[in-house]
Amino acid sequence: MARKIYVFDTTLRDGEQVPGAKLNKRQKLEIAEQLARLGVDIIEAGFPCSSPEDLQAVKAVAEQVKGPVIAGLARALPQDIDIAWEAVKPAERPRIHVFLGSSDIHLQKKLRRDRESALEQAVEAVKYAKKYCNDVEYSTEDASRTDFEYLCRVVDAVIKAGATVVNIPDTVGYAIPEEFGAMIAKLKEKVPALNNIILSVHCHNDLGLAVANTLAAIRNGAQQIECTVNGIGERAGNAALEEIVMAMKVRPAFYDAYTNINTKEIYRTSRMVSRIMNIPVQPNKAIVGSNAFAHSSGIHQDGILKDRSTYEIIRPEDVGIKAHKLVLTARSGRSALRYQLKELGFELQEEQFERVYQRFLNVADRKKEVTSEDLKTIVEVELTKVPETFSFFSLQTMSGNTILPMASVTLLKDEEKITESAVGNGPVDAVFKCIEKIVKKTAKLHDYDLKAVTTGTDALAEAMVRVEIDGTLYSGIGTSPDVIEASARAYVNAFNRHFAKNGENHP
Ligand code: KIV
Ligand code: ZN
Repeated sequence: MARKIYVFDTTLRDGEQVPGAKLNKRQKLEIAEQLARLGVDIIEAGFPCSSPEDLQAVKAVAEQVKGPVIAGLARALPQDIDIAWEAVKPAERPRIHVFLGSSDIHLQKKLRRDRESALEQAVEAVKYAKKYCNDVEYSTEDASRTDFEYLCRVVDAVIKAGATVVNIPDTVGYAIPEEFGAMIAKLKEKVPALNNIILSVHCHNDLGLAVANTLAAIRNGAQQIECTVNGIGERAGNAALEEIVMAMKVRPAFYDAYTNINTKEIYRTSRMVSRIMNIPVQPNKAIVGSNAFAHSSGIHQDGILKDRSTYEIIRPEDVGIKAHKLVLTARSGRSALRYQLKELGFELQEEQFERVYQRFLNVADRKKEVTSEDLKTIVEVELTKVPETFSFFSLQTMSGNTILPMASVTLLKDEEKITESAVGNGPVDAVFKCIEKIVKKTAKLHDYDLKAVTTGTDALAEAMVRVEIDGTLYSGIGTSPDVIEASARAYVNAFNRHFAKNGENHP
């Protein structure tokens, strides 16, 4: 009989460790609600002892999100476990997730201790967590580089101490699928106590093998997989939820296992995570990339038109991608817009709808047709706006290869127009300098990404920036049919995030 594989989503914890992707309470709640709709079994909502804000965010998820188990991460220390419990205790089904390094590299170089005392600490931590909560997960950090005999001893000991889930992380993405699969099988053989609890794996993608390692572990008896939406996470990221789930769905006979994921929610979840965390999805990303279902070669198009199965192993609609034909123009009224938004799955409150409508008109005035992709982007950008200390009003630029690029930008602050001019290395640089003059702060640009949402010379452009302001990374997003305006809107958005985080103490 097919085995159930539990999906443990750590987008809100390991995924959030991506620099600049820190989430606030509202954003965590929005993603957690969607993860529940997606059907994940466990949501790791955060690392509560990492900050008072994260404690409050995990608590809010625990209070409000119904369905999945809500987990909070803790080091194997009483004070961490106390805080993790405070955060997850309101959940219908709380879990405390405790971890400690087990490899000699971690023990000697990071924790500066020997194996025996670490083993003792692990056991004590599980017993301590168990006083609060029946569901305790224990992770042997850096398991794939841990001496196997020692790993077996730790696993056995934490199960005896009460762990209900034991997680084997490939923390640094070092494992190779055949080897990792064999290790899981051998662990099950050497530690019989594993038959009474859930064995989990958690793979990182440093060698691009996180999904392959996770699937190999499933084949060899793992019952829980830890993953993130779009594979986001530390360094090269974590195993991508959508890729593991779809591999199992497309090849059921091979895996003889299933998940409870509602695959039709995959695309919507991917878009939401990308938008809220401001991490673009690469176009060729499996399952959710914009090219994942695009057929461009003539031979492939011919095959697809004759029978989709010739070149398609997944139907786009199975992951929630619908082809939308309706195209809106500046003459489309509110009701056409409302209808199309509903078709796209957006249920907006009146005030949100009005904001989207005004932005739609602004874009439609400058673009012949507003497609579904344009509209999705407009809605997503409008809905993730932070309170606007400054809002974009207008800009002019002058540039060319024989003149010094110049710009003049006007922003609104409390209804008042503020205009500044500057020269720069290019028009975008000049615009950024104007914005810095207006907001009276400088920012260091770490990343700048510009993409066309649709095709054609009047395509809607989406700009994403990642900037450092006062030592903290902020991301910003902006859209417009004009690439310079999109960039300006993204830069202003990043500053607004900074001001929102730091209260109103801007100059
Ligand atoms: O990668 C890792 O080892 C982790 C643990 C905390 C589970 O994220
Ligand atoms: Zn991890």
